[in-house]
Amino acid sequence: MNILLIGATGFIGRNIASALAATGHQVTPMSRQNGIDFSTMTSPAHWLPHLKGIDAVINCVGIIGETATQRFEPLHTLAPSALFRACHETGVRRVLQISALGADETAFSAYHLSKRAADNILRSLDLDWFVLRPSLIYGKGGKSADLFMRLARLPLLTVIGDGSQKLQPVHISDVVATVLQCLTSREVKRTLDILGTETFTFTEWLQWMRRAQGLQPAPVMRIPFWLAMLTARLASPLSPMLRPENLRMLQIGYWADVKPLVDFLGRKPLPVEPHLFFSNVDTIRRAS
Ligand SMILES: NC(=O)c1ccc[n+]([C@@H]2O[C@H](COP(=O)([O-])OP(=O)(O)OC[C@H]3O[C@@H](n4cnc5c(N)ncnc54)[C@H](OP(=O)(O)O)[C@@H]3O)[C@@H](O)[C@H]2O)c1
Repeated sequence: MNILLIGATGFIGRNIASALAATGHQVTPMSRQNGIDFSTMTSPAHWLPHLKGIDAVINCVGIIGETATQRFEPLHTLAPSALFRACHETGVRRVLQISALGADETAFSAYHLSKRAADNILRSLDLDWFVLRPSLIYGKGGKSADLFMRLARLPLLTVIGDGSQKLQPVHISDVVATVLQCLTSREVKRTLDILGTETFTFTEWLQWMRRAQGLQPAPVMRIPFWLAMLTARLASPLSPMLRPENLRMLQIGYWADVKPLVDFLGRKPLPVEPHLFFSNVDTIRRAS
């Protein structure tokens, strides 16, 4: 298939690109590194020239926090909605949207709401669409995965409240496997949460990451939620990841029913193992 892969330079996009190339697909990558700024692509007309000869579109563009130039509305809502409408206009039927776990009727953050708005546009169109909502993704090369690995290396683990936030992390290779299956699946018009089968508290997850890095369990410092929010507000200029809203999303946790994914894949997602924290789709493919 000829596949337009938007956000091809990111953590998810790079891994999808590599798996697509290995399975013989032709990939047209798109991102700012390929000369296209999504925030300028807010009308279907902007997309039409890019859809010639394309069989399927995968959108992996996203930001976790806003900056002066990177805003949720154009990147998460306006540009993808224009893209989906252009696909409808030109007959590119198969469209995969990487959304996020929590971009549903319970959404409260600007991040989730802006994703959900585009997901809803896609669902309203007569296309062979898939809305994929990954949980926390771990594996080699992810920005948030790397941040959590660094936090886990500290001699004192800092957790919010009692650190019992519920997480069902998923390995990057299972996200990619789901994407590959969506390209050929006859079950279309699907919204799928992509997550692992195992549930961890946030504290357990950090201790797991220490173990994966060959470290003994560390003592835990509990920070009241209000203090964590205040710290995030003060530290937010340092990184888009350090936003109070991101802490509120973490407080809710990242978990859901995994059964629909298991049924779709015909297998369970990978159980967490230490080596997976240092693996991506290439290392998994080479090992198998
Ligand atoms: N990683 C996770 O744990 C996780 C979990 C759930 C959902 N998601 C969602 O999955 C998507 C991808 O995540 P990721 O981890 O792969 O993020 P990432 O590594 O930060 O990649 C983001 C991608 O978006 C592109 N991009 C950003 N701003 C752009 C712009 N203005 N114009 C064009 N392209 C732009 C980037 O390319 P350039 O910088 O080259 O422009 C890059 O290819 C996001 O929507 C994220 O919210 C991620």
